[in-house]
Amino acid sequence: MHDFLADKRFEGLKPFENKLWLSSPTMHGEEQKWVDEAIRTNWVSTVGANINEVEKQTAEYVGCKYAVALSCGTSALHLATKLAGEKLYGQAKPDQGTLAGHKVFCSDVTFDASINPVAYEDGEAVFIDTEYDTWNMSPQALEKAFELYPEVKLVVIAHLYGTPGKMEELKTICDAHGALIVEDAAESFGSKYKLHGQWVETGTLGNYNCISFNGNKIITGSSGGMFLTDSEEDANKVRKWSTQSREAAPWYQHEEIGYNYRMSNIIAGIVRGQLPYLDEHIAQKHAIWERYEKELADLPVRMNPWDRENSEPNFWLSCMIIDEDAMAKMVRGEQDYLYQSVSGKSCPQEILDALAVFNAEGRPIWKPMHMQPIYRTNPFVTVEGNGRGCTNAYIAGSGLDVGSDIFHRGLCLPSDNKMTPEQQERIIELIHRCFY
Ligand SMILES: Cc1ncc(COP(=O)(O)O)c(C=O)c1O
Repeated sequence: MHDFLADKRFEGLKPFENKLWLSSPTMHGEEQKWVDEAIRTNWVSTVGANINEVEKQTAEYVGCKYAVALSCGTSALHLATKLAGEKLYGQAKPDQGTLAGHKVFCSDVTFDASINPVAYEDGEAVFIDTEYDTWNMSPQALEKAFELYPEVKLVVIAHLYGTPGKMEELKTICDAHGALIVEDAAESFGSKYKLHGQWVETGTLGNYNCISFNGNKIITGSSGGMFLTDSEEDANKVRKWSTQSREAAPWYQHEEIGYNYRMSNIIAGIVRGQLPYLDEHIAQKHAIWERYEKELADLPVRMNPWDRENSEPNFWLSCMIIDEDAMAKMVRGEQDYLYQSVSGKSCPQEILDALAVFNAEGRPIWKPMHMQPIYRTNPFVTVEGNGRGCTNAYIAGSGLDVGSDIFHRGLCLPSDNKMTPEQQERIIELIHRCFY
């Protein structure tokens, strides 16, 4: 790697003594109280007061009728996807997924946990390209996808980095095609969205909705997740599936396949201690985003965008994207990268290397799912239609692919809510020096 510490551009800048994280847990003390209480009262299991309380408080916060506490966001997404599959195509045999033989439209720039459950259920993910306004699923590309695959009845939509996608447009398109929505609000717990003039929370915008309490999220249980719904029937089904699908019998009796996906009462104790601080964390993350935006304004970069009229993100991660003409040459293989250091320009990998040397954690933009080796043969749809094989050796074409462009030019910046303004100033200075 380039010797940043010997590089004149970085003269006088000191590495952080303690690592500055992308987004790490922030404990407040009450977590310990609820964990201790669970242990003292011997509710060290997947039942207990902490679970009941976090379900109640989360449903109240989000404004839905039922919340089912699960072991992680991924398990919530799996059961949400399975519920949708069963609703659409009926109950599957125990050794088969509910989506076998069916395509599902999916967000493309997201963490793979959003869309892996489609494969768990034997479905085929069709990735829908991203738009530049919110870095989420493009409504135009979704329209195109329904032209290509009119039979599709399920769409998995994630809100990247806590920024709500264009849900009103996406929902209108899904409604017009009679398609259900699995909403992945794992990164956006606490984000608000104006739907038909009414402010609502993300996590209430789909037919099946999920959040995560992973250690890096806006609040955490160390792990954990929830399924959110207004349907008592769906909530009961998810609770049953998550506890090995036991039937009402004195012995272990099973009529459908089960999972061990329920949240532990210990984890729920941590979540219970965190919930009162959700709004505080959001305010801290918002201030971080604003500071980056203001102080990077003189550089050829922009922050991750959001719709100021119709959304209030939770600002989980602050990200930036470098203007095309300020990009130094950078290439990425499957596991490695190369770039040039060019005066007046920079690139994500150079900035990430510099951050690492100065003991701060950044991250590349989530690599789009259609570019992942595991999903390389799945369909991908852009605003222009089929996004696969759309360049031509003999004719100059556009090869438009918004997700890969954001991946190429963007990066996630240190966004820890415990970062002080002084620490953030040093990060901002470091980014400036990358462009010297
Ligand atoms: C968009 C998205 N979906 C799903 C998940 C999975 O959540 P969990 O880690 O709680 O399983 C994550 C993060 O971990 C995520 O960022």
